[in-house]
Amino acid sequence: MITNTKLETQNYDKVTVTPRFCYFTSKADNQSTLEREASYSLSRKRKFIHPKFFYDKTGSDLFEQICLLPEYYLTRTEMKILHDITNELPNYLKGNYALVELGSGSSTKTRKLLEALSSIQNQIEYYPIDISDILKDSSTSLHDEYDNLKITGIIDQYEPALEFIKHIDHQKKIIAFLGSSLGNFEPEQALEFLSSIHKCMQKNDLLLLGLDLVKDTKILEKAYNDSKGITAKFNLNLLSRINKELQASFDIKKFEHLAKFNKNQSRIEMYLRSKVNQEVYITSTGFSLKFKKDELISTEYSYKYDIPQIKEMAQKTGFNLQKMWTDKKNHFALALLSLREL
Ligand code: TRP
Repeated sequence: MITNTKLETQNYDKVTVTPRFCYFTSKADNQSTLEREASYSLSRKRKFIHPKFFYDKTGSDLFEQICLLPEYYLTRTEMKILHDITNELPNYLKGNYALVELGSGSSTKTRKLLEALSSIQNQIEYYPIDISDILKDSSTSLHDEYDNLKITGIIDQYEPALEFIKHIDHQKKIIAFLGSSLGNFEPEQALEFLSSIHKCMQKNDLLLLGLDLVKDTKILEKAYNDSKGITAKFNLNLLSRINKELQASFDIKKFEHLAKFNKNQSRIEMYLRSKVNQEVYITSTGFSLKFKKDELISTEYSYKYDIPQIKEMAQKTGFNLQKMWTDKKNHFALALLSLREL
């Protein structure tokens, strides 16, 4: 149950779809956010675009395609681990749990978690959180598939949505943060973010964290440079989005996708590279941007971890490691964390 209707009505519009499915959409104006943030980040000496802007409708659809690519081992491997632990996971639960999912996307992995929860409880409250409208469709499918599910969706960025879930009352919760999305934060921000998750949790609550592990550079780079060019399309879609929403003049053909593993930093770095010297005009802000040939726009980092690092992050942010699962090849890890007793 979500209480505190004041918070809801101030910052969110509530849409009730059925008695078992409602969602909240943030009142913040997305276009002005993109305008404000992109005009800042593209006028820096080192240009960048925040990765949260990947996920408009086209971007979300492309990301779903990425998850199915043979080269993109992450989704498949994490699914397999989730599948293998459906019987074991309930051993760590003490009574009934609500499921909160950060970055729920298509809610495909959710089904595995619902299966695990269904084996020990009749009703499940599910709180998907995603920045993309894709939440509406994926929740509708889940709602139709599971009679025992009550869904409260939050379409917003992670941080404000976490504030929101502090108001989930009278229920233990398991928070799932999968897909190695924590790896898209810089190390310091990742720790801060884990701490803010910690602040939302109470005794007996759990955090299930899915993280990608360091491995052979070739395997890593292929996952972000697929042969069908879907990842390239996904990356370039950022520019199409800016064209559409801010009436800009990016010529998509004059930029290319670039993804490289930086071993020292243990991260995949994703860029858009300008193929030529060029100038781009952004009508809504009245700015023009100059690009030199080979100049980069940084769009996303994806950090790769080893097991001791994951343990250290958990330790530093006040968590206890309950269990760590990996696949046979040690490509991916799922960590189950609880609050450390003080
Ligand atoms: N969390 C995903 C990852 O780090 C996000 C992602 C996958 C991504 N493929 C991408 C981001 C391609 C940008 C481009 O793997």
